[in-house]
Amino acid sequence: MTATGRGAALTPFTSHWGGRIERALDQLLPPASEPPTVLHEAMRYVLFPGGKRLRPILALVGCAATGRSPERALVAAVGIECLHTYSLVHDDLPCMDDDALRRGRPTCHTVYGEATALLVGDALLTLAFEAVATAGAAAVGILAQAAGSRGMVGGQMADLEAEGRPREGGLEQVQWIHDRKTGALITGSVLVGACAGLEAGESLPGSFRQKLQRYGDCIGRAFQIADDCLDLTGTVQELGKNPNADRDHDKLTYPAVVGLERSLKLAHELAAEASALAEPICAAAQQWRGPDIAALDGMAPLLQDIALAAVERRC
Ligand code: IPE
Ligand code: IPE
Ligand code: MG
Ligand code: MG
Ligand code: MG
Repeated sequence: MTATGRGAALTPFTSHWGGRIERALDQLLPPASEPPTVLHEAMRYVLFPGGKRLRPILALVGCAATGRSPERALVAAVGIECLHTYSLVHDDLPCMDDDALRRGRPTCHTVYGEATALLVGDALLTLAFEAVATAGAAAVGILAQAAGSRGMVGGQMADLEAEGRPREGGLEQVQWIHDRKTGALITGSVLVGACAGLEAGESLPGSFRQKLQRYGDCIGRAFQIADDCLDLTGTVQELGKNPNADRDHDKLTYPAVVGLERSLKLAHELAAEASALAEPICAAAQQWRGPDIAALDGMAPLLQDIALAAVERRC
């Protein structure tokens, strides 16, 4: 629960920034009429209509947490959404999770073929770095770490390796996978956004960065646990993807290891831990920037709402 009520801070934030995120993405992507037209059309197909846009929102919030306008992080934020969407396109391929539905529509490879889906992923991944470079060199380094073999791609590899033998994996292993395949980019989103709030020559103060990172880590793990649970409890209409896919592929998930009830409890505990960091994050920002930073107004309830939304979602 937030100090101001469920969603009371997140709803106005997303209604203000949601349209800006869509416009910035539209500007970042090449027009569908530009050759190679099939590639550019397919890139737009997977991005519009989008999903929840959680990662760009987190990047904007990360920037606001530094006491600066989220506007400064907008291009980097939509770059991260491109990288996330590349990961979904590749995740859905027949050689990965083999899914036919994503964001309520046939998956990229189903419509455009596997070769184009591969290239859509390559193009979005590359475009992401061009966009995130607007937040500075430190942001590029953070994204590279989050997305690479020690982060998201490493997690995806371990996820595939664990497929077919979930009973051999324990809590420690599923946590390791989730922290990488999903958590790394979620934490990366918050930190890239924070980098966009830096002035030339500045770096994030240690205590502020540490709290923000822990906030992202808790949300990232909680978010993927919720995803695992929704695979069992959500409908195709809610999710825009086919439910029961993890069971069908014998995936190593939280519910497979500890059951649905305990998984939901763990997700809520992590969200509560993230939520409890909201005030300390704001206090660390004030200590850094001074107490009168206007952009920090309403920041703690916003951070709390996002933590709750990561686990209480139905899509
Ligand atoms: C799906 O991510 C893949 C996971 C990491 C769980 P989202 O649930 O954020 O998907 P979209 O972006 O809203 O479609
Ligand atoms: C996907 O995890 C994580 C990444 C794409 C990096 P899942 O395989 O659980 O995501 P969904 O359920 O297909 O969206
Ligand atoms: Mg997967
Ligand atoms: Mg999948
Ligand atoms: Mg899933």
